[in-house]
Amino acid sequence: MIDGLFIVLEGVDGAGTTTHTKQLKDSLASRGLPVHQTREPSDGPIGVMIRQILTGRIVVPGLHGSRPPTWKTMALLFAADRADHVESEIEPNLRDGVTVISDRYYHSSVAYQSATAPEGADRAGEVARWVREINRYARKPDLTIVLDVSPEVAAKRRAERSKGSEIYDDLELQRELTRFYSNIERHFPDERIVHVDSSGSREDVAARILHHVREARGEKI
Ligand code: TMP
Repeated sequence: MIDGLFIVLEGVDGAGTTTHTKQLKDSLASRGLPVHQTREPSDGPIGVMIRQILTGRIVVPGLHGSRPPTWKTMALLFAADRADHVESEIEPNLRDGVTVISDRYYHSSVAYQSATAPEGADRAGEVARWVREINRYARKPDLTIVLDVSPEVAAKRRAERSKGSEIYDDLELQRELTRFYSNIERHFPDERIVHVDSSGSREDVAARILHHVREARGEKI
């Protein structure tokens, strides 16, 4: 049995990764392709805990009030969730010949955990390398699609949706993340990573994503 294709959608909060993961899954499924949609943080035990941290349900208590865990703890938690996610869900599906589409993967760790390292740290260098290192054995995606959108458009989209606030909502941080994502491939030189402008209509963006997926599948475009 030939392994399924492992596809990842990435981008800042509000870039549309969740919408387009679902959209892509639906359009591949409607063509008769076996396909599995998933996300990170995953729905496994560590992923569920991470979501509680993101929404402020779990905090680190301290003398001067509580705070979220640091970027280092977060990077290790995300890496542990990922190892579990790959072993329990991603690889079994791929081995069954199922195409797996993940809403976020280790590129998010390199972007978010590096961007939240303290000012003065070598975020794009030493820090990003360490985050990659702790994810070294996570299976490499066959195709990663980065949805590009300006921090302002992304902020507007985040404000419009019903989801409550999360620890990475800060506009300045989202600007730094936009910079990380604009050149994320430099941290993953041996991977197939493409960018899609996500500021257009949902249909246009979906069509461009599908184009890249068909190309990666070796379909005649
Ligand atoms: P989402 O469900 O809105 O995508 O929320 C996940 C949040 O977690 C989002 O702000 C990105 C962040 N994140 C990281 O910081 N590191 C990671 O490795 C992953 C997968 C997500």
